[in-house]
Amino acid sequence: MRQDAAKALEELFSEAEKDGIDIYAISGYRSYDRQEYIFTSKVMERGIYVANQTSAKPGESEHQTGLAMDVSSPSVNFQLTQYYGHTREGKWLVENVPKHGFIIRYPEGKEYITGYNYEPWHIRYVGKNAAEFIMNENITLEEYLGKV
Ligand code: DAL
Ligand code: ZN
Repeated sequence: MRQDAAKALEELFSEAEKDGIDIYAISGYRSYDRQEYIFTSKVMERGIYVANQTSAKPGESEHQTGLAMDVSSPSVNFQLTQYYGHTREGKWLVENVPKHGFIIRYPEGKEYITGYNYEPWHIRYVGKNAAEFIMNENITLEEYLGKV
């Protein structure tokens, strides 16, 4: 991850630990080749329609910027599942990521704006002010940037 995002992530993880919340980093920075592999595998497994809803094309993923991290927990066997949003850890993330400069980047009900399915595990660093605004207002990064 990029340095400011990495530092913020460490702070987020130590706060989680203090609160007795078990959160692990699953997937952070990805190269173009890695994203291409992920996208192509998804197309093979599920077809292009589902692939486009769940994975960014190579060159378009936030994971390639070093500002995004997928996180998960033992309570869901470290899977990236929408059910995570209903767990104690998933709920803790919604409440606590903004003060460390992160947002839940692909919220439920905003699929028509973000272009992706709900991903309670994907956090994206935007800095504290933007993150608090976005999460308090229940908006997306697209709306914040005036892109919709
Ligand atoms: N799953 C997100 C959209 C990505 O591939 O970057
Ligand atoms: Zn992700």
